Amino acid sequence: MLKADLQSGLVSYLDQGVGPAVLLIHAFPLDHTMWQPQMAALSSKFRVIAPDTRGFGGSLPPGPWTMDQACDVLNQLLDRLDVKACSIVGLSMGGYIALPFYAKFPLRVRHLVLADTRARADNDAERAGRNELIEIVKQEGIHSLPDRMIPRLLQPSPDVSVAGLVRSIIERAHPAAVRCALAAMRDRPDASGVLDRIDSPTLVLAGEHDAITRVDECRAMAERVPGGRFIEIPYAGHLSNLENPKDFNRALIDFLPLTQD
Ligand code: MLT
Repeated sequence: MLKADLQSGLVSYLDQGVGPAVLLIHAFPLDHTMWQPQMAALSSKFRVIAPDTRGFGGSLPPGPWTMDQACDVLNQLLDRLDVKACSIVGLSMGGYIALPFYAKFPLRVRHLVLADTRARADNDAERAGRNELIEIVKQEGIHSLPDRMIPRLLQPSPDVSVAGLVRSIIERAHPAAVRCALAAMRDRPDASGVLDRIDSPTLVLAGEHDAITRVDECRAMAERVPGGRFIEIPYAGHLSNLENPKDFNRALIDFLPLTQD
């Protein structure tokens, strides 16, 4: 695990492989370790960079952040790593960051992959749900979080080892990081308008059984992007990269550019 001391604090990240750079942005309330199957499959062809969002994994300190600030942190990290442009893969909360990142730094993005995510802001019911969870984490810490979240993150009757991995990652999460990420997601602006003006090749992926960002919503998002492509990942829920890494990795390898700019 590497660390970069940036204006926002310490950002931890993995940086493996040689080739065109690919930045992987993780989901909530996880960290870079959710990308294990992608690090293994991609790093023979690509330089794969997987940072931890503020407060998660080894990125410190936990504290309030916005999607816009998360974009700035990644921009600074790419500067630090001397990466001029890269492909970006954001899953769920990672997509909530990847899309505004594209809007803010379009020249830095070669190909864009939005997985199990959405462009719109939270609706009232979703905001209320975030506030409720913030309160629960404030009162009880994170101990009930795995049982609350795993049924929504994974397909029904998930693979036991995948469920175990997700549980162990969630159990490591810092309660303050969880609360701040919930607030950042609750307050994120609508980025739907960005979809219409993306001119980097864009692929949208969705797990067949995604219960959080449903397949139809993800497909509609791809249809809004000029030339956007869509692939449904079978036998997978929301964390489609972990539940069906074979098809997820195939989709990435077929789509991402293998040559340097
Ligand atoms: C995620 O997987 O990043 C979150 O579940 C997304 C969300 O809660 O909106």
